[in-house]
Amino acid sequence: MASFSILCLYLHALIIILSSLVLGLASSAPLSPAYYNRVCPQALPTIRRMVEDAVSQERRMGASLLRLHFHDCFVNGCDASILLDATPTIDSEKNALPNANSARGFEVIDRIKAQVDKVCGRPVVSCADILAVAARDSVVALGGPSWAVQLGRRDSTTASRSVANNDIPSPLMDLPALISSFKKQGLNVKDLVALSGGHTLGFAQCRLFRNRIYNETNNIDPSFASQRQATCPRAGGDSNLSPLDPSPAAFDTAYFSNLVSKRGLLHSDQALFGAGGPTQDLVKSYSTNLLAFSADFANSMIKMGNIKPLTGSQGQIRFNCRKVN
Ligand code: HEM
Ligand SMILES: *[C@@H]1O[C@H](CO)[C@@H](O)[C@H](O)[C@H]1NC(C)=O
Repeated sequence: MASFSILCLYLHALIIILSSLVLGLASSAPLSPAYYNRVCPQALPTIRRMVEDAVSQERRMGASLLRLHFHDCFVNGCDASILLDATPTIDSEKNALPNANSARGFEVIDRIKAQVDKVCGRPVVSCADILAVAARDSVVALGGPSWAVQLGRRDSTTASRSVANNDIPSPLMDLPALISSFKKQGLNVKDLVALSGGHTLGFAQCRLFRNRIYNETNNIDPSFASQRQATCPRAGGDSNLSPLDPSPAAFDTAYFSNLVSKRGLLHSDQALFGAGGPTQDLVKSYSTNLLAFSADFANSMIKMGNIKPLTGSQGQIRFNCRKVN
């Protein structure tokens, strides 16, 4: 009996050793949440504090910073390529259609980078990691879930306006195009729906949803359409803002419950609900289950953050996020 329980203990220990070996191998994945713990333990608290400051000055900034990380990751991976300004050799992604007069928050990233380099004593934290951490801290600042951000990304020395134009999904897309856009990044249908839930935060410009509120008759609540028309005229007012859901500064399920009642603002939002299928089931379940949405959102953010990072000796740690060293 005694020897039997000793054998059990022994087997148990063996299993623990073997499984941590397997986990250790699996987590020789390039990125790790502990990446800056030794080299600059003050880096993450500094980013958090500065994001909290920026969001308390303007709630929308949390949404804008979340979107920057998304637009970075979908263009040749999460490598801070979106932050590079135009030069004779850099075809800036800032001038791509989805970003021009739309992507914002660059000055906040500049301020965070300067402060982080100062507290660390030297430039050890990449701009790509700052984008990933700022996205997480923005979500938390607006009441959303937290997650351990994987770190150790390095910064690109190139940018591509054409890849930004091709690979960032358009608000005019139908469901099959949205699914294939995400699939191209290694993201599945669940990631598409959970991450579209990022539209629980922030605003969109009239020019990007005008056709939906004036021309779409299917799958739009008529009273919602006329409400939105009040601040988005048929002609002019291109940059007038409407909230993407009724609570644009709160991470909640309103984005999804709005889709269920045909009150999605963008064509691409409403495409997730109305034609049946797995996206419709997910929207429906997230619309009444904040816990499920939050858990899946956090999971999919980690997946998105792992898209093609530069690691090791690839790329560089920029001194200034806007310029190659
Ligand atoms: C599924 C495909 C997606 C499309 C077609 C799309 C499209 C758009 C568009 C057109 C806007 C308005 C931009 C403007 O008016 O200037 C917007 C805003 C925003 N998007 Fe997306 N998006 C998508 C997915 C995502 C994802 C995955 C995230 C993050 C997880 C995200 C986060 C945001 C946020 C937070 C805003 C508000 C930004 C602000 O107020 O500054 N979007 N999106
Ligand atoms: C509605 O659709 C017509 C025909 O495609 C187009 O010419 C018009 O510009 C659209 N109106 C708006 C407000 O988008």
